[in-house]
Amino acid sequence: MSFLTKIHLKKTTKLAFLLILVIFTGAVVFAMPNHGKEEINIDGGKKGNIDFPHRIHQDILVDCNICHAVFPKKPGIIKELKAQKKLKKRQVMTKICLKCHKSMKKAGKETGPTNCSQCHVK
Ligand code: HEC
Ligand code: HEC
Ligand code: HEC
Repeated sequence: MSFLTKIHLKKTTKLAFLLILVIFTGAVVFAMPNHGKEEINIDGGKKGNIDFPHRIHQDILVDCNICHAVFPKKPGIIKELKAQKKLKKRQVMTKICLKCHKSMKKAGKETGPTNCSQCHVK
């Protein structure tokens, strides 16, 4: 193999790696789900809205479906589904939020609030 061919091979190898890297990065970015807002202000009716730390929950719980099995990943959807009577009032609160916080508290683990006014802010 001549010296020149060696150089040429190295160049094509480098180019091939670069191309793979570009395709891979593109695929990763493309496959990333829309994580939505970091903080979400959930409508809490007369009781007052809830400042919900969305990202913290995503990081701790990992599985989106713990919550999103019940309502899709759309802003304002809980209020919308309650208005359509597809979700009962306080269903998300009782069956998802409080259920987890209470059971973790009982198990002596660090968790979110279980008192009304710690979630509902007027
Ligand atoms: C602990 C519950 C919970 C978990 C877990 C969760 N979400 Fe959400 N998510 C919510 C709530 C509550 C809303 C707001 C719905 C509304 O506005 O009515 C929401 C809204 C969204 C929205 C709509 C846009 C927005 O920001 O309002 C997107 C997108 C979303 N979530 C993506 C995700 C993804 C992706 C995951 C998993 C990595 C995830 N969520 C995990 C509770 C959760
Ligand atoms: C962990 C946070 C959290 C705690 C603690 C909490 N709530 Fe809620 N609450 C929510 C969320 C989220 C909603 C909106 C979704 C729903 O209606 O399920 C809500 C909704 C409500 C609503 C409005 C229902 C409607 O549609 O009109 C009332 C009333 C309410 N809560 C009362 C209470 C009372 C009373 C307590 C204390 C015993 C309490 N909440 C504790 C999170 C919480
Ligand atoms: C499967 C368990 C689980 C579910 C479901 C869940 N949470 Fe939590 N939540 C946690 C844990 C664990 C923490 C403690 C996070 C921390 O501070 O490290 C927490 C913390 C919080 C906090 C306090 C955050 C802070 O900065 O101190 C709020 C507010 C809260 N959750 C609201 C909600 C609401 C509203 C819902 C329902 C839409 C919900 N959570 C559903 C596990 C859960």
